[in-house]
Amino acid sequence: MMNSSSTLITTTQDNGILQLGITRPDKLNALTIAMYDALTAGLEMAAQDDSIRVVLLQGTDNCFTSGNDLADFTKNPPEDENSPVFRFLKAISQFKKPLVAKVSGPAVGIGTTMLLHCDLVYADETAKFRLPFVNLGLCPEAASSYLLPKLVGHLRASELLLLGEAIDAVRAAEMGLVTRIFPHAELTEKVFTKLLQLTQLPPRSVQLTKALLKQNQSRQVAGVMSEEGALFIEQLAQPEAQEALQAFLTGRQPDFSKFP
Ligand code: COA
Repeated sequence: MMNSSSTLITTTQDNGILQLGITRPDKLNALTIAMYDALTAGLEMAAQDDSIRVVLLQGTDNCFTSGNDLADFTKNPPEDENSPVFRFLKAISQFKKPLVAKVSGPAVGIGTTMLLHCDLVYADETAKFRLPFVNLGLCPEAASSYLLPKLVGHLRASELLLLGEAIDAVRAAEMGLVTRIFPHAELTEKVFTKLLQLTQLPPRSVQLTKALLKQNQSRQVAGVMSEEGALFIEQLAQPEAQEALQAFLTGRQPDFSKFP
């Protein structure tokens, strides 16, 4: 087994499985630039290494991730497509081997949108999904404005993206955002069984099947992702997002009433 830990992303390689763990529980696994870089590096390494058959994305016991670290985000906003957050999204959307996610607790913002690029998403009853981009004065990312309506239908996608309300694991599974729900105490073991199953299948056939499942959408995904990225960067500099971010950072409610 090979283990490494850097910048709050833990990497464990064993049995043909690369486990990427978001491990910053004191900030509910909020993702900083350094953490996006470490996740991207993990995916790049997994793509090169033939002994890795499958990648698992996970958080900690009671939390997947609360999404972008809003403090880091305010200090170091993404500036273009080469920014760490967009490089990570590109890497995850183009990754050729199976990507499995294990979700307990909150999966906010990119914590939910990254799941749209996974092949299998396992959650427990504690999982909660939320897309508060509008609430933050922002707009969707990760091609979620394209992938989410395709997956759950326009009206349900609008509700998730416009109102930014949280949904639980049962609702997420009904909508098709989650493959299956396992009880919290069994989640790790059940997911491990699925991962091992994947490692024992013929790798070329697995990757070919994943590619075929995604081929009709890959061009649109790349296009929408870069359009959204440009708008996201633009929105971030607007007074609406500044108000929302300052409100979060100072622990008050945002006030959007002054905006035309
Ligand atoms: N960025 C930075 N810090 C974050 C964070 C984020 N996205 N999410 C949580 N934290 C921090 C909190 O500031 C708090 O830090 P502190 O203990 O130093 O004050 C700590 O993590 C615990 O969070 P808290 O809000 O107290 O936990 P909670 O259980 O009451 O609420 C959430 C959980 C997920 C509902 C809430 O933290 C939240 O809404 N976070 C922001 C999510 C978000 O908007 N993400 C960005 C999407 S683009």
